[in-house]
Amino acid sequence: MPVTWRGATRELHLHNGRLSLVMAVLENGWLGQLHVGAPLDPAASYRHLGPTDFRGFSNRVDEPIGLAVPTAGSGDFRAPALVVESPDGSGVLDLVYQAHRIVAGKPDLDGLPSTYVEDAAEATTVEIDLADRIAGLRVTLSLTIFEDRPVIARSMRLANEGGGRLVVRTAMSASLDLPDGPWDLLTLSGAWARERRPHRAALLPGRRSVGSLRGATGHQQDPSLFLLRPGTDESHGDGFVVSLVYSGNFLAEAEVGPRGSTRTRIGLHPEGFAWTLEPGASFTSPEAVIAWSSDGLGGLSDALHGLFRERLARGFWRDRPRPVLLNSWEGVYFDFDHDRLVEMARAAADLGVELFVLDDGWFGERDDDTSSLGDWQVDRRKLPGGLGPLAADVEALGLRFGLWIEPEMVSPRSRLFEAHPDWAIGVPGRPRTESRQQLVLDLSRPAVVDHLEAAIAAILESASISYVKWDMNRNITEPYGASLPADRQGEFFHRYLLGTYELWRRLTSRFPEVLFESCAGGGGRFDPGMLAYAPQAWTSDDTDAIERLAIQWGASHLYPLSSMGAHVSAVPNHQVGRTTPLATRAAVAFFGVLGYELDPRALDDAERDEIRAQVAFYREHREVFQRGRFIRLRSPLGRDDAAWMVVAPDRRRAIAAHVQILQRPVPPPDRLRLRGLDPGLAYRVVPWPAPAGGGREPVRRGGDLLLAAGLGLEPEDPSTGAARGDFRARIWVLTAD
Ligand code: GLA
Repeated sequence: MPVTWRGATRELHLHNGRLSLVMAVLENGWLGQLHVGAPLDPAASYRHLGPTDFRGFSNRVDEPIGLAVPTAGSGDFRAPALVVESPDGSGVLDLVYQAHRIVAGKPDLDGLPSTYVEDAAEATTVEIDLADRIAGLRVTLSLTIFEDRPVIARSMRLANEGGGRLVVRTAMSASLDLPDGPWDLLTLSGAWARERRPHRAALLPGRRSVGSLRGATGHQQDPSLFLLRPGTDESHGDGFVVSLVYSGNFLAEAEVGPRGSTRTRIGLHPEGFAWTLEPGASFTSPEAVIAWSSDGLGGLSDALHGLFRERLARGFWRDRPRPVLLNSWEGVYFDFDHDRLVEMARAAADLGVELFVLDDGWFGERDDDTSSLGDWQVDRRKLPGGLGPLAADVEALGLRFGLWIEPEMVSPRSRLFEAHPDWAIGVPGRPRTESRQQLVLDLSRPAVVDHLEAAIAAILESASISYVKWDMNRNITEPYGASLPADRQGEFFHRYLLGTYELWRRLTSRFPEVLFESCAGGGGRFDPGMLAYAPQAWTSDDTDAIERLAIQWGASHLYPLSSMGAHVSAVPNHQVGRTTPLATRAAVAFFGVLGYELDPRALDDAERDEIRAQVAFYREHREVFQRGRFIRLRSPLGRDDAAWMVVAPDRRRAIAAHVQILQRPVPPPDRLRLRGLDPGLAYRVVPWPAPAGGGREPVRRGGDLLLAAGLGLEPEDPSTGAARGDFRARIWVLTAD
């Protein structure tokens, strides 16, 4: 049993040999947190790690006592995990342990995305009841430890068991008290078209936080944070990652207290949040996942990649090879008709592409982004026969057909808005801020969710559609729920998300074999919450290979390659104007779910041949790219080069890529040390594509040597005459004999 209760010392220990979380009921009944992190022997007591004879903070205020659910106003002046206002208006709580239950497996989280198990033996959950007698509040803390992953999932259920009204002001999904420092904080921050840059800095006394108040997680901050011991690198050193399985307003924060203790909390952003609990009502927080590793950042990424790919993503496509697609957007934008699309699909089929995706512009009268969102009927001017014949023509070419939608939005210029202006979010009597000429529909209203389910289902039933790109191109302003009373507006943002998740749930369960890809102007809602519904996401609107090195590098800290849509587009690149070789664009997009986003009719013969070879190469190695272990080797940030690799689970095959961003004169001798290989195996090392003129015999190298000394990065092989230059990529396939 990976959860041990020691009755004598009232200790609960979650352990699996890879991490431990030890808690104890303190003398005053509060739930203390004694240890989290490195695995400890479950047979021992750790009660001495916590305070002795703790009967509350009286005369010991500011003592850095570890608490599982810290509350406000108690003498622990650090940021609380839970603030609930009692009927008397006070926010002070006295949360006393009542009981706990240890159950096999992992119960579902009501209406919210979460990790899961397929077999009760995969995890053990302990539910701990805490109660405040005066408020009538019961808090059920739920902690799940996975059998073979260094991961704990945590959430909290709040129930009003008293006679008065309670208001939840802060309900953090996770709170971790670490007794000491120093720690570095690493967050993934950015903007549209440059999402998820890792930013790392030593924590100082005080709080440092990232978050969102946009109604979506946003391009700006990922809902996760890493705490790393100084010096921790990709493969060595201790650290945590805490990540929220949620897609809306969030706060992720680390706080160093006056005596150097470090508290981390993550959950719904308390700003503007207030959730009323009438007697008998309950509230469930989103889930947070906590991973620990002593193998550096790479160890943390391994833990989350496995968890997110196998036990957060779900459904038909979870384990299936994802198709290589061609998306129409950068190729033709809004400018298409039936025949042009079929011609594009024909050219795509000739390249070996497997799925043709029609992006924005097929509905209403949408010739640009100023109209028609909400009018999910085919634009007969462009597609006189509708989607059915188009999908049939595409399928006749041997491709599957996919479609773009943006269900949560409405254009003021649309029939939907004319019919239901009150469905758009806004404060009655005040102007509404437009963004990209569009407004957001109020998905906190069940009628809106019902309407969207019917409208989108009608499209998906109208044609043979195998894939949906679900976009979301603006954030929420003038937040206000027209169906909520004035004193419950603090519930609006979370209710919007609950409605959105409900729409995702209904559509993904009605169309279980459709592959859903989430998108929000690129990576504006690429988060663990979305991954529970859509196993892949459009990583960024920036398709430039060099920018993508940084974006995919950053995203890979948390997300597996099987979740990262990555496309080869035309040059000069539409976002940054850069021209990179076609081979380099592919070398970067291989490390994700490969697609093309260009007009294939515009390619010349040489480009067509090259892309045919790229698609064939990716399809041959797709299993390793999409399900192998991804290892970051050299960061593109602040360097002239970058490198990464994937390794098959049995370590018998690996593919490594190196990109020279800028070429410098007289480069020092350089070798790319590989990781993750089996030192006892010998590998054939074959560059891809094969050098012109046939090249030499493939070299054989021991795994030990490749780990210790790596691959030579001398500028190009003089025998092939290949040029030096900026933006050059090299790929090696390593296969064990
Ligand atoms: C967003 C997406 C793009 C594209 C456009 C269409 O920006 O991220 O990929 O679908 O919308 O309007």
